[in-house]
Amino acid sequence: MTIRTAGTGAEAENATVAPALMRAAVHTRYGPPEVVEIKAVPRPVPGENDVLVRVHATTVCAADWRLRKADPILVRFINGFWGPTKIPILGMEFAGTVESVGSVVTRFGVGDEVFGSTGFKFGAHAEYVYLPETGGVALKPVNMTLEEAAAVLFGGISALHFLRLGKVQAGQKVLIYGASGSVGVFAVQLAKHFGAQVTGVCSTRNLDLVKSLGADEVVDYTKQDFSGAGQIYDAVFDMVGKSGYSRTLKCLKRGGLFVQVGAYGGMLSILAGMLRGMWVSMTGAAKVIGGVATAAPGDQALLKELVEAGKLRTVIDKRYSLDQIAEAHRYAEAGHKRGHVVVLFEPASR
Ligand SMILES: NC(=O)c1ccc[n+]([C@@H]2O[C@H](COP(=O)([O-])OP(=O)(O)OC[C@H]3O[C@@H](n4cnc5c(N)ncnc54)[C@H](OP(=O)(O)O)[C@@H]3O)[C@@H](O)[C@H]2O)c1
Repeated sequence: MTIRTAGTGAEAENATVAPALMRAAVHTRYGPPEVVEIKAVPRPVPGENDVLVRVHATTVCAADWRLRKADPILVRFINGFWGPTKIPILGMEFAGTVESVGSVVTRFGVGDEVFGSTGFKFGAHAEYVYLPETGGVALKPVNMTLEEAAAVLFGGISALHFLRLGKVQAGQKVLIYGASGSVGVFAVQLAKHFGAQVTGVCSTRNLDLVKSLGADEVVDYTKQDFSGAGQIYDAVFDMVGKSGYSRTLKCLKRGGLFVQVGAYGGMLSILAGMLRGMWVSMTGAAKVIGGVATAAPGDQALLKELVEAGKLRTVIDKRYSLDQIAEAHRYAEAGHKRGHVVVLFEPASR
């Protein structure tokens, strides 16, 4: 199988001389964390509009482990039915230093410290990635280390997308269910930035964390049913797919927004949830919305600006080396990380 690196990968196949190699975490079959192996693969050859980045840090997020194990099964229709033929190298976000720039690039220079998102092209679990200078790469926030900057865009862009979808604005009461995960930690801070009154639902060990992110109220789901606290919300954002329709509708104002970010369970329960959502929306009890987060123009710049203004921070739970990436997958997949798990490349990240 040909391993394609970030971009089309066509350059490596067409090259007449042996391409330079780089280390990358590659999976050539769907399965448990062990299917991810460190291999030497062709280093990408960027085009004239591209910026080649030497990656210092990346993360393992929910999208990575879901693609790795083809969960839900829908993944097979996107990434190859019998094996991950289209995206063998995972990783959606990174931070590092610019190694080289294409001949017409004007916004970046060699040595710049940048952060970026490869989005649904993935490929960031590799020593080098390249992106067009206008597509998903920016100078990293000045007040963040590279490892912190690597852990901003997956959670930040997802949270921004769904808060916009939920039309969160000043004075609204919103509940963030699953406030301590990588999307939740940004959703709490961004909802506060938009002026909402925020209740975060998390477990006992994360109460202080979620309060420190700005939540006005916190509910410990291991001790209390969030729907029984006597509060009525304008919108409920379920980050982990576990809030449940009955409980959510009980504390949502009639016609309020139930925003489903995360999904839990197999394809059948996801489909059953979608059907129930359509029914609930038809009855007018609530408007149920979901979908897939996409970056809007300006999102990366806004997140960087908020970080630099001290209004947004990231949360790093654990750090792994590239050689330990299977461990990072296992930990992320368990569903209990606080914020992000970061994977660090050599030389040691600043
Ligand atoms: N639709 C989209 O475009 C989109 C975008 C991004 C992510 N997602 C999905 O959204 C989900 C969440 O993503 P993520 O990156 O935030 O996940 P994550 O970082 O893995 O979330 C883990 C967090 O969820 C908390 N949690 C687990 N069970 C909980 C429960 N019953 N009640 C409340 N909190 C609970 C955990 O804390 P404790 O264990 O301590 O409670 C942990 O802090 C994933 O399924 C992902 O695929 C969807």
